[in-house]
Amino acid sequence: MTGRENPSQPRSSALPAPLFERFHNRSARVAVIGLGYVGLPLAVALAAAGYEVVGIDLNEAKVDAVNRGRSYIADVTDTALRGQAARLRATSDYAVLRECDAVSICLPTPLDQSGAPDTSHIVASGREIALHLHPGLTVILESTSYPGTTSELLLPLLEAAARPRGWRVGEAFFLAFSPERVDPGRSDWTIRTTPKIIAGVTENCLAAARALYEQVFDTLVPVSSPSTAEMAKLFENTFRFVNISLVNELLQMCDKLGLDTGQVLEAAATKPFGFTRFSPGPGVGGPCIPVDPHYLAWKMRSANGCARFVELAGRINAEMPGFWVRKVQEALDGVGKELKGSRVLVLGAAYKPDVADARESAAIEILRLLLQEEAAASYHDPYITSLADAGVPLASVVELDGEVGKADCVVIATAHSIYDRANLAGKAAILLDTSFFD
Ligand SMILES: NC(=O)c1ccc[n+]([C@@H]2O[C@H](COP(=O)([O-])OP(=O)(O)OC[C@H]3O[C@@H](n4cnc5c(N)ncnc54)[C@H](O)[C@@H]3O)[C@@H](O)[C@H]2O)c1
Repeated sequence: MTGRENPSQPRSSALPAPLFERFHNRSARVAVIGLGYVGLPLAVALAAAGYEVVGIDLNEAKVDAVNRGRSYIADVTDTALRGQAARLRATSDYAVLRECDAVSICLPTPLDQSGAPDTSHIVASGREIALHLHPGLTVILESTSYPGTTSELLLPLLEAAARPRGWRVGEAFFLAFSPERVDPGRSDWTIRTTPKIIAGVTENCLAAARALYEQVFDTLVPVSSPSTAEMAKLFENTFRFVNISLVNELLQMCDKLGLDTGQVLEAAATKPFGFTRFSPGPGVGGPCIPVDPHYLAWKMRSANGCARFVELAGRINAEMPGFWVRKVQEALDGVGKELKGSRVLVLGAAYKPDVADARESAAIEILRLLLQEEAAASYHDPYITSLADAGVPLASVVELDGEVGKADCVVIATAHSIYDRANLAGKAAILLDTSFFD
């Protein structure tokens, strides 16, 4: 099966009819494992569609917050959470899976110390699901991972529990992959309206997953195998990673040649076809774009191949914080000051504007380098009060205007909408804006 189609009836009559009905008449019980940036919005969307939903998270504070109707994810309001209170609860006990018809896995897939995929969360949850596997259960993996994760890592864990009981995938239980595409902070495309890629280990697995998700998402995009869907998700994020790194290299090239990067970009973007505009910045941050392409690179290495663009883009991306620290140094040189000992205030520590998430943030790398150079570095971020968790011994300054006035140089690393460029330009001795091109 290829291309985009509207979800319709299941393709095989072997799908247990009562299960299909429970999905269609929305009387099914659905679990969501991992109530983070992806899992909590999905749990709310499933409940809003009418399912009875139970979120499973090992973090007791999150479980407690969900049960009290207090959201910790900016894209989910307390009102939205409380609006689903009758249908949504949370627990840290996997045993609830025994009562569920379906389970969506929304667990982290970071990189380990060596830069390889850390799929330990998926494996841990797979073992838990295997313990509570029962006929009729549909399992959908949402986490971003390398091609083969669903069929070669998760399926064997479930089959180990199923085989002794004579249960087979696609007959007694169902396994699918449907990658999450949510972009935190975005409001023009929602969890419901963003097309959702979906693939089953078998035709019946796809039919079961579609029957569940077609109540929640406007457009499902079925593809022929979980590995195809896994590759599509990695390619989407690799596309962004490579293009952002390319435009960051453009910035470095224009800088060397004394050209105005903004003008070059604006001129190139007037081409009405064949050009997509990306903007330079401090580097690529966040839990997905700088991480996911390395899943692809790892997979290619293990298949004796390589993902050359990913590796080059990774090198360029890693150079960007150093590029901006050199710009600070040059600007200070211009007024006869050294970086060492100068007061440098970095505005924004989050990985992108208006989110409270500093994972892999380039702003943190800029701060690390400034501290290494013995600058008197400080930062301001209304959403990130401390960087201790990221290993940087700094807390956000509180009084923004006063600190801007005292700094030798102010760097806008993350352009939160509260930062008024004109006001800052009037107060700062030197203002460098890494997001100037947005
Ligand atoms: N954040 C994004 O913008 C985004 C977008 C698209 C896809 N993704 C992908 O979605 C997946 C989830 O990412 P996220 O940002 O929601 O992660 P997250 O860190 O925000 O949330 C994960 C949650 O899982 C919980 N958890 C960890 N191990 C657990 C276990 N064994 N059992 C139960 N709960 C456990 C954690 O306590 C946490 O609440 C990742 O693969 C990520 O790459 C993320």
